[in-house]
Formats: sequence, structure tokens, C-alpha cells
Amino acid sequence: MSYKEFSYFYDYFNYNADYDALFGKIKEMAQSHGIKEGIVCDLGCGTGELAFRFHNAGYDVIAVDNSDEMLDVLFDKRDEVEAYGVQILKQDITEIDMFGTVDLFTCTFDTVNHLDGKQAVQKLFDRVSLFMNPDGVFIFDMNTAYKHINILGNEKFDFIEDEADCHWQNTLIQEENKTKISINILDKQSGEEYSEEFYECYYQLDDVKSMLEKAGLKIVSLIDGESFGPVKEDSLRYLFMVKKEQ
Ligand SMILES: C[S@@+](CC[C@H](N)C(=O)[O-])C[C@H]1O[C@@H](n2cnc3c(N)ncnc32)[C@H](O)[C@@H]1O
Repeated sequence: MSYKEFSYFYDYFNYNADYDALFGKIKEMAQSHGIKEGIVCDLGCGTGELAFRFHNAGYDVIAVDNSDEMLDVLFDKRDEVEAYGVQILKQDITEIDMFGTVDLFTCTFDTVNHLDGKQAVQKLFDRVSLFMNPDGVFIFDMNTAYKHINILGNEKFDFIEDEADCHWQNTLIQEENKTKISINILDKQSGEEYSEEFYECYYQLDDVKSMLEKAGLKIVSLIDGESFGPVKEDSLRYLFMVKKEQ
């Protein structure tokens, strides 16, 4: 599910996200697999934090999202930093269509959880497999079932800042393996209020493994997406690196 007005506040409220650490880890993983240059395609790129870092590191970058509002923010940021080498595509990541093959696909900060269930995730994996260079890799993260059930649950979070407030309410729908997220934003400058809702789905690790296998993708490494250490029972996020079965 793509974002609407929340897109304009995404960076403002996302100050805890450590994109430098994430970028550093993903680049290290990709480079360890021999991908030191070439084409990077960031799927569900949002405001482009990862995409611009790869651009600055000398990669050819394609940034894909299907939210008009996110892309609006992304185009403005690209103008600001004059990173015109970053190609921006409006596409549904479950139906990507590329001009050629890609060396490194990335998909981060729960974008996979935003897809609407197993069929959609399978479509994403199938399309990535189709467009990935035979020597390429796909690095993606995913919030775990543990995090949804034990941490996100039915929690409410209030972010009160100078320019805007954001009230965030989770509703766990365990019988459907998903969490409804309702967001209310007050823009203190304009006085406008925005509300939107979206869902994050969660999956058992074995199900993800079977979906990858079905798409002809093989796990090269699977680590904890926060500590970058080994996966534990209570890991909040997985970080996968997968490649094509040869
Ligand atoms: C949580 S944000 C993550 C953004 C970015 N990857 C990051 O690391 O900050 C999820 C993004 O995925 C996008 N998205 C969700 N479903 C999508 C789909 N089916 N196709 C394309 N983009 C999608 C949303 O619009 C949003 O920009």
C-alpha cells in the first residue's frame, strides 16, 4: 500500500532511521558479492534516502515507487541535490518492468510488509528474479511476526514536534497476519489535518523461504536487520540477501 499525504512528512518524522548504517551494511553485503559498480534498483524507494546514497557512491540508480506523493517528494529532493542521474520510475513493485537487467535490487524499511499478502510478495520475488542479472543480488528487509505481535501490537505512538504532530495507532489483526496502521497528522503551519490508513502484513520465515524458492531465488545470507548480527527468536527485522539459483 502506497503512501499519500504522509509522504510529505515521512522524512520529518523518520529521524530515528539510520540510513547511513543501513546503506553501509547493504553496500558491504553487495560488494562482498562482487557488486562494486553497476545498476542498483531501489524498490519502494520512498523519499530516496537509500537511492541517493547509492548514487553518491557511483552506482547507476533506478528508484521505483507507486505513490504520487512520495514521488513528488523524491523529484524535489533530486532537484535539490542535482542528482539527475537517479532515474525515477512510477511502478507497482509487484509488476516491475525494466529496460534491462539489474545488478542490485534493494527494498528496505518494511516495504515488503506493505504488500498485500503472500501473492503480492510472490509477484515481487518473481519480477525481481526475472530482471536480476545472473550474478546480481537482491537485498531486502522485513519486519518479523515477532515484532508485529509483541512490539507493534495495538500500540499508540505520539510524535509531537514543532512543525507537525503525528498520532500513530496500530491495530493487530492476528487472524489475518497483519497490522492496521492509522495515522493522523496535524500540520501546525497550515492547520490542515490528514488521516490515512494502511496495512503491514507479516510472514513466517518458512513461508518467505518457500516464496523465494518458488521464484528461483536462493538465500545467501539472512541476518538480524537491526543489529546486523545473527537472527534470534526475538529479532524485529530480517535482512535477506538472495541470488538467483544457477
Ligand atoms: C515504509 S516506506 C519505505 C521507503 C523507503 N524504502 C525507505 O527505506 O525509507 C514504504 C514505501 O513503499 C511504497 N510502496 C508500497 N507498496 C508499493 C507498491 N506496491 N509498489 C511500489 N511502491 C510501493 C510506499 O509508497 C512507500 O514509499
